[in-house]
Formats: sequence, structure tokens, C-alpha cells
Amino acid sequence: MGRLRAGVIGLGVGEKHAEALDVISECELVAVCDRNRQKRESVAARFPGVRAVEVDRDILDDQSIDLVCIASYDNDHFCQTMRAIQQGKHVFVEKPFVLHEHEAHAVRDQLAKHRGVQLSSNLILRRSPRFLDLRQRIERGEFGRLYHLEGDYNYGRIQKITEGWRGKLDFYSAVHGGGVHVADLLMWLAGDRIVEVSAVGNAVATEGSGFRNFDNVTAVVRFAGGAIGKLGVNFGCMFPHFHPVSIYGTQATFINGLDSAWLYTSRDPQAAPTRLETAYPGTHKGELIASFVQAILGQGKSDVVEEDVFASLSVCFAIERSVHSGSPVKVEYV
Ligand SMILES: NC(=O)c1ccc[n+]([C@@H]2O[C@H](COP(=O)([O-])OP(=O)(O)OC[C@H]3O[C@@H](n4cnc5c(N)ncnc54)[C@H](O)[C@@H]3O)[C@@H](O)[C@H]2O)c1
Repeated sequence: MGRLRAGVIGLGVGEKHAEALDVISECELVAVCDRNRQKRESVAARFPGVRAVEVDRDILDDQSIDLVCIASYDNDHFCQTMRAIQQGKHVFVEKPFVLHEHEAHAVRDQLAKHRGVQLSSNLILRRSPRFLDLRQRIERGEFGRLYHLEGDYNYGRIQKITEGWRGKLDFYSAVHGGGVHVADLLMWLAGDRIVEVSAVGNAVATEGSGFRNFDNVTAVVRFAGGAIGKLGVNFGCMFPHFHPVSIYGTQATFINGLDSAWLYTSRDPQAAPTRLETAYPGTHKGELIASFVQAILGQGKSDVVEEDVFASLSVCFAIERSVHSGSPVKVEYV
């Protein structure tokens, strides 16, 4: 296979996708798409020779394009992903890759009909040096047996749901939009799947704004292997964007902090914890695309494989159902 010809739809974070594709030698960025003229023209100007198009079909139906990055609004991901797969294109789609469970099933079916097509999603916390280091420590056995994992998504940007496009959609889920990162991170760290959730939520922070879903959700979670934990999304927090993460094993405890993380290996209050200076988040938003390209070319494994994409959102579907029903929900993996 020669160089993969790639296009990007949606040029907010999608501009980062374009930057990433531009420096992958096995790829050729050929087209960028945005409804907003100023946006598409300014991004295209950064990449000489790249076509700027207004309508997504000009990329999705272009037979010469092999890979499409989808970074449009959440409610367009499903149709664009379905179309791209139907056209035999590999898809790197922003999270959440769909909004509803039936859509996830439809994407699964579509992928089953197009066996050669690969799908990945931008679950970018996996590339954070802080969490990569943590995972390596867990894999080396430094934590003993994990028994409690907590992660939160402190959004710190409430205006994006009270004033931006997110709050204007018929359905927007803070769990799908933010919690999906945490669901993926916790399961990736644990090497295990969440099987049951029980969630509560409120919308105090966005009261009166017109936002129509919970902006603050906390779910108690149970893993298949016996560990338990907590997954939270807090979109109203008076706090900068941050991912509080605490991992408890029988031999060590990890606590994430803004400037550094802390590793505790003793119960002695006099014993100083180890300060972990690993970069956080320390990633470029297009960083996962390189391994996806390698996987498409049969030269490695994608950092986020198709199963991960479906698994993390399946947990979110269960949390969303639990917070609205008030009952515990078993995760049904799509
Ligand atoms: N993985 C991450 O860390 C991360 C970070 C930010 C955003 N996102 C996701 O990326 C997506 C975009 O969010 P954003 O923050 O970049 O939004 P944004 O508003 O900054 O940019 C979106 C751009 O896409 C364009 N657009 C939207 N729908 C389109 C369509 N159907 N056709 C053509 N152009 C279209 C808009 O005109 C806009 O310029 C969302 O799904 C969001 O959840 C993911």
C-alpha cells in the first residue's frame, strides 16, 4: 500500500488531527472540511496543496481518500462514520463516536460488513506520559493487586455547554463527552472491564441556562475482577480542566495532582511519597493517529482499537441509563 490519503472533517480539534496527519510520512493530508468558511480557509492555508471543502460528502464520497478523521459536532459523528465505512474508508472519530446505543450497534454492523475497515477514537488520555508511566508501573506489579480506582473529568469550561454548540444539541451527555475518557482510562489501567454502575447526578451549576441534562454525575463502578471505584464528570466545577485520578493497589497508591503526581508505598505517615514529575496531560491532541495509521498499514497495533472504542462508550450508556433511572445498571457491551 502507498501513502494513505487522508481528510479531516471539522476543524476545531480537527486542526490538531490535520497537524498530526501532516507529519506522518505514510500519510498525505489531501482535504479539510468545515462549514465555516474562514475556518476551512485558514486551516487549509497552513497545509499547501490541501483542498478546503464545505460539505462533508466531498470527503466521505471521494474514492481517492483512504482515511477520514471526523471531528465535527457530536450529533454528526454517527452519520459521517456510517458513510465513511460504507465507502471503505478507515475512520478516526472524535469521542463520543456516537450518541446512542442503537447507533453503536449500527456502526458495529457496518464494520462487520466491511471487514477491512478500521476504526479508532480519540481517547487521548492513554497518551499522557503521566498515565503511560502509571500503567507501566501497574504492569510491572508495583501496585500489587488493584482494588479501587477513581477518576473524574473536571471540565472547567462550563460555558461550552451553557453557550456553545454542545448545549444546543437535542441531546448532549457530559458522561459521553467527558466520562468516556475516564471510563477508557480506568479500564486501560486496570486491564479489566467495568461490569456494573450506579450513578447519581444533578444540574445545579447550569440551572436556568437551558442546558437539558445532568452536568455533574458520579457513578460507583464494579470491575469484573473484583475491584470497585468511582467515575465522575463535573462540568460546572470552579477549577481548571483536570483529571483527578486515584489508584489503590495492595502495594501502592497513586494520586494525580496538577503539578505532579504522588506515589505512596508505605502506610507510615513519616515516609515521604515519591513525587512523579511525568508530564500531564503532555499530549498533542492528534497523537493517537500515528499508531492508527501503523495498524491500517499492518505494521503495528493501534493504541485505541475498535473494541476499546465500543467498550468505553458502553460503560457511558450504562451510566447515563443509571443516572436517569436511579437504579444500578449492568453494562451491556455493544
Ligand atoms: N479528544 C479530545 O480530547 C477532544 C477535545 C476537544 C473536542 N473533542 C471532540 O471533537 C468534536 C469537535 O469539538 P470541538 O471542540 O473541536 O468543537 P469546535 O466548535 O471547536 O469545532 C468544531 C468545528 O467543526 C465544524 N463542523 C461541525 N460539524 C460539521 C459538519 N457536519 N461538517 C463540517 N464542519 C462541521 C464547525 O464549523 C467547527 O468549526 C466534538 O465531538 C468533541 O467532543 C475531543
